[in-house]
Amino acid sequence: TAAQKGGYDFFMQKEIFEQPEALKNTVMPRLHNGRADFSADNISDDIFKDINRVVVTACGTAMHAGLVGRHLIESMLRIPVTVELSSEFRYMNPILDDHTLVIVVTQSGETADSLAALRLANERGAKTISIVNVKGSSIARESDYVLYTHAGPEIAVASTKAFSVQCAGMYLIALKLAEINNMMTAEEMAAYCDAFQAAIDTVAPVLEMDEQIKGIAEKIKDTFSAFYLGRSLDYAIACEGSLKLKEISYVNSEAYSAGELKHGTISLVTEGVPIIAIATQENVLPKLMANVEEVKARGAHVIMVTDKDMSSYEGIYDDLIQVPNVDDRFGTFGVTVALQLLAYHVTVFRGYDVDQPRNLAKSVTVE
Ligand code: G6P
Repeated sequence: TAAQKGGYDFFMQKEIFEQPEALKNTVMPRLHNGRADFSADNISDDIFKDINRVVVTACGTAMHAGLVGRHLIESMLRIPVTVELSSEFRYMNPILDDHTLVIVVTQSGETADSLAALRLANERGAKTISIVNVKGSSIARESDYVLYTHAGPEIAVASTKAFSVQCAGMYLIALKLAEINNMMTAEEMAAYCDAFQAAIDTVAPVLEMDEQIKGIAEKIKDTFSAFYLGRSLDYAIACEGSLKLKEISYVNSEAYSAGELKHGTISLVTEGVPIIAIATQENVLPKLMANVEEVKARGAHVIMVTDKDMSSYEGIYDDLIQVPNVDDRFGTFGVTVALQLLAYHVTVFRGYDVDQPRNLAKSVTVE
C-alpha cells in the first residue's frame, strides 16, 4: 500500500492534499456562464420548484456538510432548512410532503441509517436528491436525483476530501435553487460563481501552510481536551474540525457555538486548554472575539483560524492560522483544510494510526 499512498505517510494526508483536484472536478463542470448547470447530471429543474422546506439528512461528517448548507440556504435564500441525523430522523415521524426537498448527503452511499431515511422520504412523497461520492451505490440508486461528488476513492476512515466536495455540492444546489426560484439576479449569480471559484483556489495555498500548522499541532499534542468555537457558519465548520481531531487523535474534543460557552463549557476551560476559534464571518467577529477574550483570560491556549485581518486583536490569541481572505459565504473551504491538517499532525505526534482509528468503520452498514 506504500505505492497506493503515492509518497504520503497516510491515506488521510494524501486525501487532504487531493482536495484542490477533488473540488475542481466536482465544481467546474457544473458552473457555466454564471449559473449552476446540472444538465450533464440529468437533474430536472422540477425538483427545485414548489419547495417550501429543505431537510438535509446524513450521518457523521456528511451531516456537517448539511449544517454548512443550512446556513447558506437559509441566510441567502430564505428557505427553511432543517438538518437531521439520519438515525434520529427515521424515528421522529417526520413531516414530509411533495413540497419538501430532502437532501441525503453521503460519501459511501451505503450508510444504513441514511438509506432508511431516504426510503422514508420517498415513501412520504418528498422530492429526494442525494449528494453521493460512490457511483451506483444504494442511496444513489434510490434517490430521485443524484449530484455526484468527484472526490475519487476515499480510503482513510476520517473523511476529508469527501467533506469538502459535499459542501461544494451544497453550494451548487443553493445556486440552482436561487436560479429556479428567481431569488438572485444574473449579476448576483455571476458574483456568487466568481466568489465560489476564488474560495476553491485558496485550498492549494492553505496546503502550503502545512509546516506552520504542524508546528502548532506540536504545541497542543499532549492535551487531554480541546474546544472548537465559532458562530453561524463558523459553528458548522467547528463541528467538523472537532470531529476530525477527536476521531483520530482521541483528544476529548467538542465544538461549541461561541455564545453557548458561558452556559456551560467555560467551566472546563483551564490553564493551557487549546481553544480553536474559527472566524470567517465578519458580522459576528467582534462578538466571537469577546468570547475568545474570556477564554484567554482563563488561561486557554487560543489558536485563531481565520481569513480575516486580526491586527486589532493581537494579544488575545496565541497562534494564528491565517488563510487567504474569501467572500464570507465561502469561508468553509480554506479553514476546513487547515483544521484537517491540524488534526492530522496532532495524531501523528501522538503516534496513532491515522487511517485506522480504533472502533470506527469507513462505512456503517448496520443501524
Ligand atoms: C462513518 C465514517 C464517517 C462518515 C460517516 C457517514 O462514521 O467513519 O467518516 O462521515 O460514516 O458516512 P457516509 O458514507 O454516509 O458519508
